[in-house]
Amino acid sequence: MSQNKLAVVILAAGKGTRMKSSLPKVMHQLSFRPMLYLVLDQVAKLKPQQIIIVCSQHLLTYQQQITTEFSQLSLVFVLQEQQLGTAHAVKSALPALQQAKQVLVLYADTPLITTSTLLKMQHSLALASLTVLSFSQNNPHQYGRLITQQEKVLQIIEHKDCNLEQQQITLCNSGVMAIDGELLPSLLAKVDNHNKAGEYYLTDLVFIANKQNLICQHLPVSKEEVLGVNSQVELAMVEKIHQKQIKKNLQENGVTILMPKNTYIAYNASIACDVVLHPFVVIGPDVVIESGVEIKSFSHLQGVVVKSQANIGPFARIRPNSVIESKAKIGNFVEVKNSSVGENSQINHLSYVGDSFIGSKSNIGAGVITCNYDGYQKSTTNIGNEVFVGSNSCLIAPVNVASNTVIGAGSVITKSLEIGDLAIARSKQTNIKNGAVVYHHKKNINKKPK
Ligand code: UD1
Ligand code: MG
Repeated sequence: MSQNKLAVVILAAGKGTRMKSSLPKVMHQLSFRPMLYLVLDQVAKLKPQQIIIVCSQHLLTYQQQITTEFSQLSLVFVLQEQQLGTAHAVKSALPALQQAKQVLVLYADTPLITTSTLLKMQHSLALASLTVLSFSQNNPHQYGRLITQQEKVLQIIEHKDCNLEQQQITLCNSGVMAIDGELLPSLLAKVDNHNKAGEYYLTDLVFIANKQNLICQHLPVSKEEVLGVNSQVELAMVEKIHQKQIKKNLQENGVTILMPKNTYIAYNASIACDVVLHPFVVIGPDVVIESGVEIKSFSHLQGVVVKSQANIGPFARIRPNSVIESKAKIGNFVEVKNSSVGENSQINHLSYVGDSFIGSKSNIGAGVITCNYDGYQKSTTNIGNEVFVGSNSCLIAPVNVASNTVIGAGSVITKSLEIGDLAIARSKQTNIKNGAVVYHHKKNINKKPK
């Protein structure tokens, strides 16, 4: 197979001052995924020979975390010590670049970019030396403007450097650029910082390339795809679009979302057709929901497989490493963690089930707690098939509750049960004849009459 001589340079060294956060800007999350990861997900599909991330010292502290998440990619991290401009950032990546035929430059803080656009950018280099990804916007403030002549781009002028006439131009630079890899070093060498910001502008490559009669063109996309994040307000705006895309995609695949505006769904949710999501449901990362499942309001799911026709909520919390089997029911105020709940089993009210395996057709009564933690370590509770656990029982793990057993309400179970056992573990009740009368008499003896 011929090697893809594409290198991708992701600029991520900006300080992100306007985020007013101790977290590097590009590690802020959109739909439960750092925005840098969303960009890397799209880039990875291009199968480039190299991905270089231009980082600040601050972002470099996350290198291990990022590398672990993308272990299938060989990412190169390059430190740009001082942020002297976008051309300077790309220049910092040059020593790491290995004879790329095409170089794609993109920003880590522009997370809605899609693989299909990036592919078009790459392919455009068959006809040009440089392609700028453009968008149109009325009254653009901070963006660089494209000076064009027919299909060609002659120059990009940064907003700060525009005269009044140029400020009227509505065709803008998104920041994403595809450049002939062989020409890049010599073009970059000619960039200076003689402009209002005193920065080395990557956008100057267009003017420099034109002087050498090289063809520069632009590829227009929607403004939404290239929205950048500079502040928490913009993060929320971009997230709103991302959430809309996720939900539209699910709806088109037959998922019913009763109130899309109030449903929050992770980037990698896998939800089958004929699933109904009620208002105020949160689907966190790594959730698979099979057909016919209903998730009722205020439920929060993460790291769980919910099999067909199970019923969840309202107010259920399901935490990672859980499996809810077909037709099982997890009711209100029930928390399930690292557990599997078998087919047709029910945990209908106010329970905690952690580190447990529950078979099929079992009923876990209201208020049942699996006591999985002794303050030092976690232990497992095994519950078989067709077990009835009476309300308000505590199962002290490790403990095995075999199939076809019954546990009386209010029991504290410390010993395992064998098939067919009935266990009651609670203090005996004493009824005192006329005790209530004596009690009230004693209480009232010192009370003054009304
Ligand atoms: C840049 C473009 C502008 C475009 C706009 C789109 C230039 C000169 N201008 O302007 O034409 O309309 O983006 O949003 O390229 N970065 C570094 N190192 C640096 C400087 C920046 O890594 O030294 C990174 C930032 O983290 C950011 C990106 O490059 O992700 C863009 O930098 P920014 O300062 O936001 O450029 P703009 O002024 O917005
Ligand atoms: Mg910017």
